[in-house]
Amino acid sequence: MSAMTVAPKPVTPVSPSRDTLSVTDNRTGMSYEIPIHEGAIRATELRKIKSGADDFGVVSYDPGFMNTAACRSAITYIDGDKGILRYRGYPIEEIAGKKSFLEVAYLLLNGEFPTAAQSDAWVYEITHHTFLHENIKKFIDGFQHDAHTMGILLSTIGALSPFYPDAKKIFDDETRQKQIVRLIAKTPTIAAFAYRHATGLPYVYPDNDLSYAGNFLSMLWKTTEVKYQPDPILARALDVLFVLHADHEQNCSTSTMRVIGSSQPDPYSAAAGAVGALYGPLHGGANEQVVRMLEGIGSVKNIPEHIKRVKAGELRLMGFGHRVYKNYDPRARIIKRVAEEVFSVTGRNPLIDIAIELEKIALDDEYFISRKLYPNVDFYSGIIYQAMHFPVEMFPVLFAIGRMPGWLAQWQEGILDPDQKIARPLQIYTGAGERHIS
Ligand code: ACO
Repeated sequence: MSAMTVAPKPVTPVSPSRDTLSVTDNRTGMSYEIPIHEGAIRATELRKIKSGADDFGVVSYDPGFMNTAACRSAITYIDGDKGILRYRGYPIEEIAGKKSFLEVAYLLLNGEFPTAAQSDAWVYEITHHTFLHENIKKFIDGFQHDAHTMGILLSTIGALSPFYPDAKKIFDDETRQKQIVRLIAKTPTIAAFAYRHATGLPYVYPDNDLSYAGNFLSMLWKTTEVKYQPDPILARALDVLFVLHADHEQNCSTSTMRVIGSSQPDPYSAAAGAVGALYGPLHGGANEQVVRMLEGIGSVKNIPEHIKRVKAGELRLMGFGHRVYKNYDPRARIIKRVAEEVFSVTGRNPLIDIAIELEKIALDDEYFISRKLYPNVDFYSGIIYQAMHFPVEMFPVLFAIGRMPGWLAQWQEGILDPDQKIARPLQIYTGAGERHIS
C-alpha cells in the first residue's frame, strides 16, 4: 500500500461483508454499504448519499489531494512512513549507482530492465535523437539574456509540439514511442542550450560518442577544445542524480502531466505543463531555495538563530519536510554519499558543513521531530550542483531532465488505462447566490 493510501482502521463490524464500508447518513437515517477495493472506496459511491431527491450527493473535499488516489499505477511504490522508494519493485538503494539512467528510464517505461540487446538499441535511439531542429535553436535565441533557464525549458518543450504534428497520434504505439525517445533525448540539449544562451556562449551540438550525462556536460562546458572529455566521476554522479529523480509517483508535476494527458494532447504539451509545475519553490525549486538559505545562514554559528526563526513560523527550513515522507527520504541518504564523490573532484563545498550541522540540530529538535520533518531529496542536491558549477537557475532544470522518463511512463500508463477519464475535479461553491444587475 502506498503512503497516499491510508489503511482502514479496525472498527466494530457492522457489515456482513469484510470488504465494505458501512455509512449511516444521520440526516436521513439511511445506511449505505460502499465496497472497499485495494484499500480504497470509489468517491463516486458517495454521490449515492443524498439528503433529498434534488441533492447532488455527498462529495469529498480534499484540497491538495491529501487523501485522494487519482489513478492505479504499477510504476513507483513509496511508503513514506518507512522511507521506502521502489521503481517497478526495485528498491532505489539497489538501483542507484548500479543501473544507468537510461536503463532506469527503460525500466520505468516498460516494466523491466532491458536485456543487453534492448539496452544497446535503446541507447542508440536516444543518442540519435538529441539534435534540435535549427528553428528551435532560433526560438531559444529569442529569449532575453537574463531569462530563467527553467522558463526557457518550459517554453521550448512546449514549442516542440508544432514541430512534430504526428505526435498527436498518442494511441499509435510506434508514434508514441518516437515522442518518448525524442523527449528523453532532447531535454538535455534544450537544457544545455538554455544555459549557453543565458551565459552568452555559442551552442555546443551533441556528441554521440559520449554517455547521456557525459554528452550533457559536453554541451554545457565545452569551450575551444576539439573534443570535450567529461570527468568520469562527475558524469557518473550526474547519472545517479538523474536516477534518483526519475520518478516519484503522483507528485505535483506528475499529476499535472497526467491531468493534461487526460484531455489527450501530444506529450510535448503535457510535458511543458509538468515542467511548469516543477518550477515552483515548493517542488523542483526547493533545492535553489536550500542553497540560498544556506548562503544566508553563512556559518555554523548562525544556525540556532535560523532554527529559532523557523520555529517562530517566520521561515520554512527549505529541503525539509515532504508530503509523503514522514521519515528520512531514502534519496537524501544516497545523495549525501554522492556529494563526497563529487567533492573529491571539485573540492569541498563549504555549504555542506552548514547543511550537516543544520540537519543534526533539526533532527534533535522537538519541533521537527513532532512534525516528522526530515531532509528531502533537495536538501543536498543543490550543494552538489553548486560544487559542479551549475548556477542555481539550472537546479530545477536538472531535476526536469531526471524526471522526464517518469513523467512519460506515468503519462503513457494514464492514457492507456481504460479507467481514466478527462480530469475534472468538483468544487464547493462559496460565492453569491443568484443576483441581477439592477
Ligand atoms: N520548515 C518548517 N516547518 C515546516 C516545514 C519546513 N520545511 N515543512 C512543514 N512544516 C510544518 C508546517 O508549518 C506545519 O506545521 P503546523 O502543523 O504547526 O502548522 C507542519 O509542518 C505540516 O506542514 P504542511 O505544510 O501541512 O505539510 P505539507 O505536506 O503540505 O507540505 C512541503 C510539504 C510543501 C514539502 C513542506 O514540507 C515544505 O514547504 N517544505 C519546504 C520546501 C521543500 O523542501 N520542498 C521540496 C519537497 S521535495 C520535492 O518536491 C521534490
